[in-house]
Amino acid sequence: MLRWNDDMNTARASGLDGIVVAHTELSDVDGEHGRLVIRGCSVEDLAGRATFEDLCGLVWTGEWPSAGVGGDLRAALATGRRDAFARLNSLGAALDAGDGMDALRAAVGQLTAADPAIDRLQVTAAIPVFAAAWARRQAGQPVVPPRPELSHAADYLQMLTGRLPGASHAAALDAYFACVVDHGMNASTFAARVVASTGADLVSAVVAGICALKGPLHGGAPGPVLDMLDAIGRRESVRAWLEAELAAGRRIMGMGHRIYRVRDPRAAALERVTSSLERSHADDRRLALARAVEQEAERLLAERYPARGLRANVEFYTAILLDALGIPRSLFSATFAVSRVVGWCAHVDEQRRAGRLIRPASVYVGAAAAAPGARPIS
Ligand code: COA
Repeated sequence: MLRWNDDMNTARASGLDGIVVAHTELSDVDGEHGRLVIRGCSVEDLAGRATFEDLCGLVWTGEWPSAGVGGDLRAALATGRRDAFARLNSLGAALDAGDGMDALRAAVGQLTAADPAIDRLQVTAAIPVFAAAWARRQAGQPVVPPRPELSHAADYLQMLTGRLPGASHAAALDAYFACVVDHGMNASTFAARVVASTGADLVSAVVAGICALKGPLHGGAPGPVLDMLDAIGRRESVRAWLEAELAAGRRIMGMGHRIYRVRDPRAAALERVTSSLERSHADDRRLALARAVEQEAERLLAERYPARGLRANVEFYTAILLDALGIPRSLFSATFAVSRVVGWCAHVDEQRRAGRLIRPASVYVGAAAAAPGARPIS
């Protein structure tokens, strides 16, 4: 564990790199070897095997849910979605926001008003309902009620599109959920834990997570990844486009990671899921273009930052997969929150058990105190 000393200036300046702020049983990110373990299961094992309901059981309890528990969770989540849908009319203008994450933040923030004792299951169940309702309203379409017989993943797609999704689409969304459910001390999880450490309620901590997830350096990258692919358009333009971006000092979205020095294992899992999904011709072309962009971006970034290992991160293939599932790009970050809320809730519990306020230090580098009366105070 790193301890504070004078040598920590570098770590401090570069965003708390390597500073340990918690001991967690939830997930382990090995950036050198590209491994992610969630409650003792590798992400490769979970993606394609675990349903969203399984993930809730695993992350919240540490146990793979048995048949009975899994069924109970599925029913409880369905009830939670129904309750959240019943609340839509009381949300006022929250879902009118032009940005999906602004809408989600406002809508989730109202959950405490409706029920001060709201629990993690109800908060988790509400997020896809609010996200889908926001997207429908943005598209000028009527909201679609949840269907209790569907799984969480299938119902999200159903509330979004108004159609029953195919089993392969629901399974692909479950695989995506497995890839993003928890990921060490990422920015949104840290934000949620800081709020939880003050003794604030669960909803406040989840809202903090949503706020942090909104940023393009964290959960807001997949939309811009698709924008990038659209702007590049064809394989022949890949190199020139990327070179121009880097020359202009802009970052290539979906590339690089604070922890990983190798390819993010979630990028590989999502690429696999995307390529095994039945796709339209357009999706096929986009996947081929994405692979070409990844290859070239990796090469150019290696030239510029040979020691850094800037490779594709989770957001790169998230963009391709969610697009192939018919989820609008304006909803990508909110879809990330549909799953990550499970991790936030578990971290809030863990932080509460730790029972210590998170309150780091700062080094004052401002002006020295002037002699009394020497500096007029306006
Ligand atoms: N494109 C271009 N340059 C990049 C880059 C990218 N995607 N990622 C990092 N770099 C550059 C940085 O600008 C920095 O350059 P500098 O030393 O000239 O300032 C250098 O590489 C080292 O950066 P590093 O410290 O390793 O990055 P970080 O840990 O601060 O940032 C991210 C990590 C994820 C914020 C960063 O890689 C990024 O912005 N990626 C694009 C956004 C994205 O995909 N976010 C989703 C993350 S899951």
